[in-house]
Amino acid sequence: MKFISVISLTFSATLAFAEIGLREYTNDFKIGLALNSTFWEGVEGYTEAARNIFNMGVAENGCKLSHIQAEKGVYDFSQCDSHLAKAIENNMDFRGHCLIWHNYQPEWFVNLKGDDLRNAIVEHITTVLNHYRGKIDTWDVVNEAVDNDSTGENGGWEMRKSFLYNEVPDFVDLAFKTAREVDPNVKLYYNDYNNEGSPEKMGKSIAVYNFVKDMVERGVPIDGVGIQYHIKTSSYPAYEDVMDFMAKYAQLGLEVQITEMDVRCDNNTKEEFEKQAELYGVALRACLDSPNCNAFLIWGLADNLSWKVGSYPDILDDDLKPKHAYYTLLNILKEYNYTQELDNGNETDVDIEVDVGSDVVEIETDSDSE
Ligand code: XIL
Repeated sequence: MKFISVISLTFSATLAFAEIGLREYTNDFKIGLALNSTFWEGVEGYTEAARNIFNMGVAENGCKLSHIQAEKGVYDFSQCDSHLAKAIENNMDFRGHCLIWHNYQPEWFVNLKGDDLRNAIVEHITTVLNHYRGKIDTWDVVNEAVDNDSTGENGGWEMRKSFLYNEVPDFVDLAFKTAREVDPNVKLYYNDYNNEGSPEKMGKSIAVYNFVKDMVERGVPIDGVGIQYHIKTSSYPAYEDVMDFMAKYAQLGLEVQITEMDVRCDNNTKEEFEKQAELYGVALRACLDSPNCNAFLIWGLADNLSWKVGSYPDILDDDLKPKHAYYTLLNILKEYNYTQELDNGNETDVDIEVDVGSDVVEIETDSDSE
């Protein structure tokens, strides 16, 4: 059935997010952001906006090995603890990111050889999962282990030739098995980028699927796949392809989460922000339409606070004001929420008109659903 929802939202400059946070239309669904202590300490309005919009958080950097174990054997949980506390304080769920990654690592870790690296991997995972036992229920155990130029041909994949792979070729198995042994109650995720099904990176998307399928078939403990979903207005996946990958993971018995979404723009133009809004919408719809997709997280709060400053990738602008993409997500959540309340499967076309101030923003969303 064709869904059309045209929503006119009007806002006065002083409208607080409290009135229309995305989280208000989520039911059990999780909509989150990457939290960053630098900003809640230094940017006015950051915490209020984050708290009002989202019901889930992840530390942008605070729970990485580089923060927890900057010095070998010296564990400092203060940053990760404070991000978790911030989430709890603001009534948000929290996901752990990430235990083992090749990038942005301290020198001591990158320079370890053979068994020393193997032991450090096991020790780090063990110590972190013990510290967060009962507090963080989902962790990205390994981040970005598949080579970005993998073609996915013949059911295969290429491993990224990082120090992790070079020194400990079975580091992925080791990491997941260790994590499961230390805390059997934690959901274990493999997280990667270019695995959402964009045409230019279809090979990588297929390769990540092949790699994960192999893990499942060999009995390596894994519960879910994180689809980072860092895309551009010039390179993005079709709804059908995102759905297809999510369904394939479901067939393997795995959950998925969109873990780090952002949409880079080349220009700060209205046309590009419309495209950006549409692409955010495609991702959210695919997740909401896939029974195994239970969370949708954005990698930052606002354009000028992004890891990709200069490409306007987020749903709030530099003044923490909602962009077109924000309203698209809000309208989709309302539409799904409304549809769920209305019936038990008999979908209905929805037209919602909300009028709350001045400045009109008109959004048209449209998608096919069965
Ligand atoms: C990035 C952070 O946003 C930056 O602040 C940091 O300097 C480097 O890491 N994929 C991931 C994230 O899994 O951890 C990365 O985060 C972005 C790409």
